[in-house]
Amino acid sequence: MTDADMHLDTLAVHAGREDLNELGLHALPIDLSSTNPLPDIEKGGDSYEAISGGGRPPAGGSAVYARLWNPTVARFETGLAKLEHAEAAVAFSSGMAALSAALLAFTSASGKHHVVAVRPLYGGTDHLLATGLLGTEVTFCEPDEVRGAVREDTGLVIMETPANPTLELVSISSIVEQAGDVPVLVDNTFATPVLQNPLDHGAALVMHSATKYLGGHGDVVGGVIACSEAHAEKLRPVRAITGAILHPLAAYLLHRGLTTLPLRVRAQQENARVVAEWLATHPAVEQVYYPGMNGDPHGVLGSQMTGTGAMVSIRLAGGLDAAEKLTSSVRVFTHAVSLGGVDSLIENPAALTHRPVAGDAKPETSIVRMSIGLEHPDDLIADLKRGLDA
Ligand SMILES: Cc1ncc(COP(=O)(O)O)c(C=O)c1O
Repeated sequence: MTDADMHLDTLAVHAGREDLNELGLHALPIDLSSTNPLPDIEKGGDSYEAISGGGRPPAGGSAVYARLWNPTVARFETGLAKLEHAEAAVAFSSGMAALSAALLAFTSASGKHHVVAVRPLYGGTDHLLATGLLGTEVTFCEPDEVRGAVREDTGLVIMETPANPTLELVSISSIVEQAGDVPVLVDNTFATPVLQNPLDHGAALVMHSATKYLGGHGDVVGGVIACSEAHAEKLRPVRAITGAILHPLAAYLLHRGLTTLPLRVRAQQENARVVAEWLATHPAVEQVYYPGMNGDPHGVLGSQMTGTGAMVSIRLAGGLDAAEKLTSSVRVFTHAVSLGGVDSLIENPAALTHRPVAGDAKPETSIVRMSIGLEHPDDLIADLKRGLDA
């Protein structure tokens, strides 16, 4: 049976483990070597040359050094690449490290310093682009303004869908069409490969904060980009040079996380749907932001994104005071940033995740964002009810 014949659930359990039988292993091995024996000087040098140039260790060669290559990380990359319908994936120490590597590889290193960024985006992404810290110049725009924003020196178009924190759905194929020859990077952290595969819609790069759903248990920080082998060959040297590598223990946890990803995402999504529908009935809630609940103007649901996900945001009639009451009264939810784990989290994006976002692009202070976990939805609703009734 080929990978293409397999269902996502089967791939999630088996992808990236192809060499384990041959090694006589059942569980994923964790290789903590910081350096690797070299067969001889020539083969060692050839291996160094191949890997530092963006390729993989040659047969009969060596991984050389952990900043260049690590087999535990490589297995996770293979697993994630298969779930994202990609030829390759390159893992990094965090989602922001992954984004930074993409910016360096596709802008600074290519001599094209301009980036088009479709708002809204995660606050950290917005901040990195707005500061121009990596030598980029950004044009922020709405989804239908990309064509006009692209210039001769545009190296990358960046978008997120569902977009953070109001969960707007953006059509990937529309952005790709407007971007023309410029590669489009889609942050797929919220949707996960269970619900959305951006490469199938023309994106060149799919980025994840692996810290979120891929890990799924709130105990690992990582980032990953899935793409063609040719693009991976541009990203790996940036990782080797800047040193933003994923630790093998983190790679092990992320790879193990992939096995339950489809189950977790579907179950959390079902809980989120129940919670979102209940929230829509509460008088303290002015608006619920949940995919599909406010229409789907770009016709994305069911085609580009096959589910509605497990993130829910609300706008509270009582503004910041009501947000303070809600976030400080919860007992089942944890008042904390981040998302995508088995336990539910709640936070105020304007004060926290989106704090560095400039002026009118910052979310309203009355918006509260929830990452819905695997708890029983009745308990989540009871927890929210106490805070909202107050
Ligand atoms: C959508 C999204 N993209 C990127 C990031 C950055 O990832 P990390 O925190 O792993 O660096 C986050 C983090 O919250 C995020 O929510």
